[in-house]
Amino acid sequence: MSVSATPPTDRTIVLVGLMGAGKSCIGRRLAARLDLPFVDADREIEEAAGCSIPEIFERHGEQAFRDGERRVIRRLLDGPVRVLAAGGGAFMDPQTRAAIRARAVSVWLRADLELLLRRVLRRSDRPLLQVDDPRGRLAELMAERHPIYAEADIAVDSADGPPEATLERVLAALREHAAAAPVGRDDDGAHVARS
Ligand code: S3P
Repeated sequence: MSVSATPPTDRTIVLVGLMGAGKSCIGRRLAARLDLPFVDADREIEEAAGCSIPEIFERHGEQAFRDGERRVIRRLLDGPVRVLAAGGGAFMDPQTRAAIRARAVSVWLRADLELLLRRVLRRSDRPLLQVDDPRGRLAELMAERHPIYAEADIAVDSADGPPEATLERVLAALREHAAAAPVGRDDDGAHVARS
């Protein structure tokens, strides 16, 4: 690992935020820059279930998906340090949020409605947005979720344009966070000074 690639944290970095915020795109690039493995929680859930997310929703319902998501993220947080892109709803689950808070550093990729909408309309594999009014649905999710995403350790604006610009902002924010809080947290999420 080169000196410049030294991760600004010794914890798994979890990217949270709404669908279309760029969690996978930025996560993959962040992992490459930091020389860490990258994992996408949605892909892991699909692998564990042996079918796609739309199929999980259709066959078993959203609650079964959320239960699987909670289990998968917990398992991933127990593993080696890496960059983890969480599905948009993962951080809304109180248990998952507590586990992320205790074991990882969380980064909220924040984007405005127009940008999210432009990005999500390119794909049709998000069951929550298979509705007549995806804009209205996204706006509702924004209102509901933004106050919770705001509990993440770091918030970074995910702008349109080259992902490298957002990536640089994430790296700078991680360094700033590490410099401002050179502490660890115990399993309850309480801050503890590292000796
Ligand atoms: C969801 C987001 C999706 C996926 C599922 C539910 C959500 O992940 O987990 O469709 O509740 O916001 P992305 O945010 O990666 O699209």
